[in-house]
Amino acid sequence: LNALITLRWQDRQLILLDQTRLPNHIEYLTLTTIEQVRDAIRTMVVRGAPAIGVAAGYGMVLVANAIADDNYPGFIQELESAGADLALARPTAVNLAWAINRMLGRARAQVGTPVALIRQLLEQEAIAIHQEDITINRAIGENLLSLLQPGNTILTHCNAGALATSAYGTALSVLYLAQERGISLQAYADETRPRLQGARLTAFELHQAGIDVTLISDNMAAVVMAQGKIDAVIVGCDRIAANGDTANKIGTYSVSILARHFGIPLYIAAPTPTIDTNCPSGSCIPIEERDGEEITRINGELIAPLGIKTYNPSFDVTPAENITAIVTERGIIYPPFQDNIQRLMATELMATERL
Ligand code: MRU
Repeated sequence: LNALITLRWQDRQLILLDQTRLPNHIEYLTLTTIEQVRDAIRTMVVRGAPAIGVAAGYGMVLVANAIADDNYPGFIQELESAGADLALARPTAVNLAWAINRMLGRARAQVGTPVALIRQLLEQEAIAIHQEDITINRAIGENLLSLLQPGNTILTHCNAGALATSAYGTALSVLYLAQERGISLQAYADETRPRLQGARLTAFELHQAGIDVTLISDNMAAVVMAQGKIDAVIVGCDRIAANGDTANKIGTYSVSILARHFGIPLYIAAPTPTIDTNCPSGSCIPIEERDGEEITRINGELIAPLGIKTYNPSFDVTPAENITAIVTERGIIYPPFQDNIQRLMATELMATERL
């Protein structure tokens, strides 16, 4: 894969590509504490739902290795409280809580065995989450590929690429797979105000990989659709409710309305850990609000009156009725989403129980 590595586990340390510095600076940070992992997630050094989950898994390993208490219940209690704190780093992507809970579940299931062994098992679990993410993304790419024709052009929003995951990405995986197979696909990338993940990350990683990508500003999406340039919209997601309502980067909702207006299919690329069946509909998905300076400043420079009121929701919810299909590693989910998501998650549960 012709892409930068987003995160790496090396010598019991977490190495992260600093995504706040891209595309002008390629810098890796070495993290040794869970507090550093929490801050890296909060400040978006690492971002994108799956990458946040993988980083959180390693964060739990770092804290497990740092807890001085080698006894029960002290060890588990400290692990739980560190996990609860880490989960607060960002609220919308459910992959964060999912990974922390998976790590805690692994530890709880082993209570009674020597803590040194649990530390090893936790490291193995975090590595498993990391590796599975790569397999999942390739499978999502395969399923997406079955929905496209050679020569198609997709539009994407934000960054659901290699940089948002362990490799390949979710929405962008189809482009990497097509490239590997010599199938021609093109992409338009929305710049994605205010943090510019489309310009700084999607355009960067696709361009660097030699994939045909055209950058547009967010307000140009309607025109490229009206001009017949877009065959499908493919985006990632941060949380999918049981009824199919999907939270993704702010602006995805408007793109979904445009796609529906122009009769262009909208595919949500989703690893199953992003599905939150505890959440009945989009209205219960917590939407992160970030600092207004993300809107009023560009590269630290004010572009609006000092002290102006701002509103900066970082995500929005695309209603299920605007979604053509949810494309997971386990198959493509079509409407009615409520029933079909439930069915897919039930088979997933059975598969997990067999393990
Ligand atoms: O704020 P970000 O950059 O973490 O938002 C990322 C997105 O909205 C992505 O589309 C989503 O996390 C899916 S990444 C495969």
